[in-house]
Amino acid sequence: MSRTRVCIIGATGRLGREILRELNQEDFELVGAIASRNNSNLGMKLEAFGLANSDVRLVSPDSLNEAVKRADVVISTSNPAAEVENLPKVAGVGKRIVVGTTGFTADQYLAIKGAVDGKVPTIISSNFAIAMNFLYKIAELTSSLPPQYQASIVESHHAGKLDSPSGTAYALGEILSRAMGYSTIIHDRHSAGKRKKDELEIFSRRVGGVPGIHEVTIAGPYDMIRIEHIAFTRAAFAQGALLAAKWLSRISSPQIYSMGDVLSHPSN
Ligand SMILES: NC(=O)c1ccc[n+]([C@@H]2O[C@H](COP(=O)([O-])OP(=O)(O)OC[C@H]3O[C@@H](n4cnc5c(N)ncnc54)[C@H](OP(=O)(O)O)[C@@H]3O)[C@@H](O)[C@H]2O)c1
Repeated sequence: MSRTRVCIIGATGRLGREILRELNQEDFELVGAIASRNNSNLGMKLEAFGLANSDVRLVSPDSLNEAVKRADVVISTSNPAAEVENLPKVAGVGKRIVVGTTGFTADQYLAIKGAVDGKVPTIISSNFAIAMNFLYKIAELTSSLPPQYQASIVESHHAGKLDSPSGTAYALGEILSRAMGYSTIIHDRHSAGKRKKDELEIFSRRVGGVPGIHEVTIAGPYDMIRIEHIAFTRAAFAQGALLAAKWLSRISSPQIYSMGDVLSHPSN
């Protein structure tokens, strides 16, 4: 099988670095790496400052066209404003895209959707970890519970995380809301008071270096289950992102796909 050529936007970030570490040279070839305009290593080969064993040069988004030119797939994991600036350009030159960034406003998400949908095959996923995508499927089963059962989500992440609640908590919240009929999300019980029927709780903690923990509690009056997904390291997300990139490299229909599609049709 031929190697998938990838360009990484956000290569110097926490997740970007992990993707570079996990990138297996037999299956992938790194052909481009992009960081912010402020990065002090712009123009240098990645091997020269210890980012990866590669002679690819780190460039700013101003050199995006050149950096993505040889790529089969662009993996982008930066921040919402950067995605709104960069992804229309990537789609404009016809490159497949894997988007890992979270925390988009509704307008930012619509801008990205408008730029890629129907133009290039794209995967957008707030969580690339395989077991988390299994938890999404379990969450769908709550639609069969009787009405006295309720759900709550608690998520914990490192203190440097920009968005809160996490994109994953929102994704889980959407599934639970569809399945259990919630129409409001409560982030803080202290100010919201007693729980109402239409409310779903999503609480966040920002502490230390935690890569990501999501806990879903489903409780009735007399029993409950609690399911917790723990990412031991960012390798969980990096491996999933690379699996998504490999899958997408074989796709030609220019739609938006999810990690669920990747895992449901592994042989595509
Ligand atoms: N989908 C998932 O499974 C998953 C898992 C973990 C995290 N995430 C999400 O992924 C995103 C990145 O997380 P992180 O922890 O890696 O963040 P981070 O450490 O802050 O890294 C951000 C990266 O984006 C780069 N960047 C900033 N502005 C840019 C621009 N205009 N153009 C191109 N690159 C730019 C930064 O470059 P500099 O180094 O030069 O600043 C850096 O490489 C977040 O939204 C996070 O929530 C998703």
